[in-house]
Amino acid sequence: CGICGVVGSRQVQSVILEGLRRLEYRGYDSAGIATVVDGGIGRRRAAGKLDNLAALLEREPLPGRTGIGHTRWATHGAPSVCNAHPHATPRVAIVHNGIIENFETLRHELESAGQVFETETDSETIALLVDYHLRRGLAPRDAALQALKRLEGAFAVALIFADHEGLMIGACHNAPLAVGFGEGDMFLGSDALALAPLTRRIVYMRNGDCVVMTARGAEFMTFDGTPVERIAQITALTVDSVGKDGYRHYMEKELHEHPQVIGQTLQRMVDPSTRRIVLPDLPFDLARVPRAIITACGSAFYAGMVGRYWLEDIARLPVDIDVASEMRYRNPPLVSGSLGLLISQSGETADTLAALRGLRERAVHILSVLNVEHSTMARESDLVLGTVAGPEISVASTKAFTAQLTVLACLTVATARARGTLKASDEEELVAALLDLPSRVADVFGQGDAIRQMARVVAEARDVLYLGRGSMVPVAMEGALKLKEISYIHAEAYAAGEMKHGPISLIDGNVPIVAAVPSGPLFDKTSSNLQEAKARGGRLLVFTDTEGAGRMSAMAERVVVLPRVHGFVAPILHAIPMQMLAYEVAVLKGTDVDQPRNLAKSVTVE
Ligand code: G6P
Repeated sequence: CGICGVVGSRQVQSVILEGLRRLEYRGYDSAGIATVVDGGIGRRRAAGKLDNLAALLEREPLPGRTGIGHTRWATHGAPSVCNAHPHATPRVAIVHNGIIENFETLRHELESAGQVFETETDSETIALLVDYHLRRGLAPRDAALQALKRLEGAFAVALIFADHEGLMIGACHNAPLAVGFGEGDMFLGSDALALAPLTRRIVYMRNGDCVVMTARGAEFMTFDGTPVERIAQITALTVDSVGKDGYRHYMEKELHEHPQVIGQTLQRMVDPSTRRIVLPDLPFDLARVPRAIITACGSAFYAGMVGRYWLEDIARLPVDIDVASEMRYRNPPLVSGSLGLLISQSGETADTLAALRGLRERAVHILSVLNVEHSTMARESDLVLGTVAGPEISVASTKAFTAQLTVLACLTVATARARGTLKASDEEELVAALLDLPSRVADVFGQGDAIRQMARVVAEARDVLYLGRGSMVPVAMEGALKLKEISYIHAEAYAAGEMKHGPISLIDGNVPIVAAVPSGPLFDKTSSNLQEAKARGGRLLVFTDTEGAGRMSAMAERVVVLPRVHGFVAPILHAIPMQMLAYEVAVLKGTDVDQPRNLAKSVTVE
């Protein structure tokens, strides 16, 4: 979810709405705004996308110079108007990101004290708890602090109060919140992006910070009221104007940015004169790292899985990997000095952030591969390797994924060199394969027609099986995830060799099988697995390269022939037509490609 608040000298409705637009990547189930109007609380809320709220505000504008807004990704309670934030009583309105874990206990206490709830949400508890203390006669600051002390879980909150125009209170615990200092206005945002066009002077609040803001400035304190000093930083963040540049969807535009993004990312990591990978100065010695622990969510996790193949095979580094929501609670035995490798486009995903903090506590070096370099994870890492993908607007990740793979490939080569597992000539060969990639990737777009033909088969299906072997398994997983996300067709990815141990029973003429089969050592084995599927009526849709084209064309219903590249970089190349296929299927099905139902670009709750 996203929060934006303004205390100022001007009417705030449009400023908040613009802030929410920049935060829509955090969720778009419902949205709302509240302001202090004539000593009371005014509120407008709408289910669905932000445009619905904008239309409502057009019809029924909300005056006021102090206000808070929210764009929601539902946790407790359906995405309805009633459950949309701000939650309000006649005395206070609040917006909340995160989850209040003890809300049932609090709700029970408040109901016994006579407070009446309107929703099933955990967030409303905060409003009614603050309201309870206001009714007892406490001033806004004291009522807020009393309430904050009782909250358990993760939260970033912003509060405004009836009869107190010009006052806003914010607080956070395990969820980010930033305070922006303007000229005669003060801002609150769930990340600096929301505030970027408004001010560059920002305080990133720390866990357990409360801020009391007026148009003139801000006072910071702990939840027990002890003052703390927080110095504003000047951010370099600028808002790029992002448009679709004539493409039908952001996803299509971002797919076409693959070659450029891979090229830019390589430019940052490869020294052009020596053609060697250069990493920034590391605060630890890569050669002495006993183990890497990779963790991430969604597509970033699949990038990490490819990274594991590379780091184990080329750098001979033992790797443990799990999705962040599991890693966080798994408690694996860790050797101190291990390398925690976190991967995230946004740098804000709550699960990945929690895993990062858990690893840090256990004396693990934290290296993060991030696209948003001003994110919370960036601030909490020992070292950040940036993917130079630019803003990714489409909820389904595309270019950020290949940029993550590019960084992980470079990191692998650098690690292998540090650990002495790579001959100089082999290193040259791998770097050459990487440098060759942008132009090979550009050639993939020449296969648009073949991919669209494949899409027609997939669009008719109810279930689709994705197969690959070795580093193509995570590529198959990325393909299946993308299809699920944007076309709502059920898809499962399997290691091709594992198919015979279960999913083969699903195969009939109605289940297309999408396979990534580049030439190389695993080509024959994968072909055999595909023959097994074909023998049972399976319809094969295969991505291969010029060398594998002959054999695959003889057995598959449809073949997309990709350029032949070095096996090391093949997963990067093959990921792209997988994403293009999902895109074309979604277009055929007419779904909301850029903002598919139920998803958020960045999930900031655990
Ligand atoms: C969400 C998105 C996914 C994304 C994942 C991780 O679930 O819908 O597309 O891969 O978050 O996001 P991150 O910003 O951490 O890479």
